[in-house]
Amino acid sequence: MPDTLTLTDNRTGLTYEVAIEDGAVRANALRQIKVDEADFGLMSYDPAFLNTASVRSAVTFIDGDVGILRYRGYPIEQLATESTYLETAFLLLFGELPTKDELARFEHEITFHTFVHENVKTLMTGFRYDAHPMGMFVSVVAALGTLYPEAAKVDDPDVRLAQVIRLIAKVPTIAAWSYRHNKGLPFVYPDNDLGFAENFLSMMFKMAEPKYEPDPALVRALEVLFILHADHEQNCSANAMRAIGSSKVDPYSALAGAAAALYGPLHGGANEAVLRMLAQIGDVKNVPEFVERVKSGEGRLMGFGHRVYKNYDPRAKIIKETADSVFEVTGRNPLLDIALELEKIALEDEYFVSRKLYPNVDFYSGLIYQALGLPTAMFPVLFAIPRTAGWLAQWLEGIVDPEQKIARPRQIYIGADERSYVPIEQRSAGVRDLVAAS
Ligand SMILES: CC(C)(COP(=O)(O)OP(=O)(O)OC[C@H]1O[C@@H](n2cnc3c(N)ncnc32)[C@H](O)[C@@H]1OP(=O)(O)O)[C@@H](O)C(=O)NCCC(=O)NCCS
Repeated sequence: MPDTLTLTDNRTGLTYEVAIEDGAVRANALRQIKVDEADFGLMSYDPAFLNTASVRSAVTFIDGDVGILRYRGYPIEQLATESTYLETAFLLLFGELPTKDELARFEHEITFHTFVHENVKTLMTGFRYDAHPMGMFVSVVAALGTLYPEAAKVDDPDVRLAQVIRLIAKVPTIAAWSYRHNKGLPFVYPDNDLGFAENFLSMMFKMAEPKYEPDPALVRALEVLFILHADHEQNCSANAMRAIGSSKVDPYSALAGAAAALYGPLHGGANEAVLRMLAQIGDVKNVPEFVERVKSGEGRLMGFGHRVYKNYDPRAKIIKETADSVFEVTGRNPLLDIALELEKIALEDEYFVSRKLYPNVDFYSGLIYQALGLPTAMFPVLFAIPRTAGWLAQWLEGIVDPEQKIARPRQIYIGADERSYVPIEQRSAGVRDLVAAS
């Protein structure tokens, strides 16, 4: 049997044969289907890309039906247990796990680029005292590009690599400083003796002590969270990174756009919603009543369900184990008992089972962040730090992809047909009046 699809256009009775490649047909193949010569040709209509592959990618693999997540072929469970965030970042960026020497060099390069230009400090102090840390993060990442004008040479592999190192190294500094500004605390400079996650905690929490020494269990927990959040294939922000990058703008501007996409509550803000929900439930004894309310359509069970995963999110499993190691040090978060009871009831309830609603990565991550002393406004920023590696891996792949062109979707125009300009004195109702009347 040939790998083709035969289509019959019932408007004309004509039949077309379209090639099937990797389980997909090229949308452009539809353009040959026309009612007459003047016809533009058939398009596919897919708002939100529900069934459209926009790239061929070798970075991350997800099988949502069975709950599989792999970076470059390596299962997330193995990376979360065996790897470090920087090793995982190297894997995402370059496709293979590093040798000992390669990793040492990469770690060295990242560590020695954690400092930012002093102008960044001035820029950050210019924000209002209560500026949201994620708003600051998005703006400062974009501004960082102005300090490296050579970054515009995106077709030069050496220039690309230099920006990749700078971005991965500097985002924790910008992230921590956005928090310190928001709190009215002095900025803490990076400490090059410390590892990636440790240094971030130091820049967040160091006060008068000469050296900040976080508990190793907490450092490891943060490292695991960074590994789990490093990439997730063509999600909203990765798609933004690739689309903006396809115009060949510098990676700082593209990454600021990706981070802006992550700022939205439908993408990076769900774990905050989980915490609010758990606080609202207030006590384990209120869980059954809350679940009944969700089932009757009064709101959603936050941290449950996923567009891609129709099984237990593999990251949620790992996070749950990580939570135990954190709570051993920090003491148990009282909201955890409510979360555990919610999960238990939901996993047995027909409503959730039949809709394949399982806990996702956000169900437990907020509880851990809270236990680590990280405020909710920082949650999207904490997501952006490790996702920088994923965004850059997606960007690097796109830049050298011979099939990549500037991203530019088609539209189905539904507006007015051609009409003649009406002089202002002849216009009867104003647009706002018309809208109000409709
Ligand atoms: C993630 C999410 C947006 C995915 O949405 P989606 O793939 O578009 O799924 P749908 O909205 O089509 O939902 C399918 C069905 O499950 C129900 N459902 C989905 N998520 C639900 C939830 N968290 N609680 C209760 N019901 C839910 C919907 O009401 C719908 O039921 P219906 O078929 O009776 O109408 C959705 O599951 C959600 O809102 N979850 C809570 C927010 C969250 O945790 N987001 C973080 C994602 S990482």
